[in-house]
Amino acid sequence: MHKDVDYIMFTKEQLQARVHALGAAIETDFAGKCPVILCIMKGSLVFTADLMREINLPCTLESISLSSYRSMATRPGELTMTQPFEVDVTDRDVLVVEDILDTGKTLSFVMNLLGKQAPASLKLAVLLDKPSRRITDISADYVGFTIPDAFVVGYGLDFDQKYRNLPYIGVLKPSVYSV
Ligand code: XMP
Ligand code: MG
Repeated sequence: MHKDVDYIMFTKEQLQARVHALGAAIETDFAGKCPVILCIMKGSLVFTADLMREINLPCTLESISLSSYRSMATRPGELTMTQPFEVDVTDRDVLVVEDILDTGKTLSFVMNLLGKQAPASLKLAVLLDKPSRRITDISADYVGFTIPDAFVVGYGLDFDQKYRNLPYIGVLKPSVYSV
């Protein structure tokens, strides 16, 4: 285990099993369609890569880049788009894939933008859900795990852009971000 991680919340094996089950559910629900899988970079990169390989359907892949955390802070900052929003999902069946649904600000913004493009359908898959922190009215169609309010890293999730490559989800030691 990494020295900055307090404890492991979900092991590689637990993540793999849950992602497999989510993929199966999505495959059933989207049967006969060709969804566009929309990865919200960068946190969702690892989850999207694993999830899409559990969905045995024709599909396309798009990504958008957003950032809501200031460097070195575990409190959300201003939401910034780090690239222009160039994805066109008009008449498409859209599956937005995100690492974590926290306050909901990020995904409310994204789902609202996408909804304006008149997609055929619009669904949301998140690996982690922290409902205790929600400040906007949003819920996901597919949730990997519901978690308490702890700052987690690994499997794509970062602190100050680090720890994304950990193969598990771990809780960061408070000493790492409170110094
Ligand atoms: P909101 O608050 O808009 O934020 O729902 C969602 C985004 O915030 C990041 N986030 C986290 N990142 N560990 C992280 O590494 C966490 O515990 C955490 N909580 C929120 C994440 O980028 C997500 O897209
Ligand atoms: Mg993110």
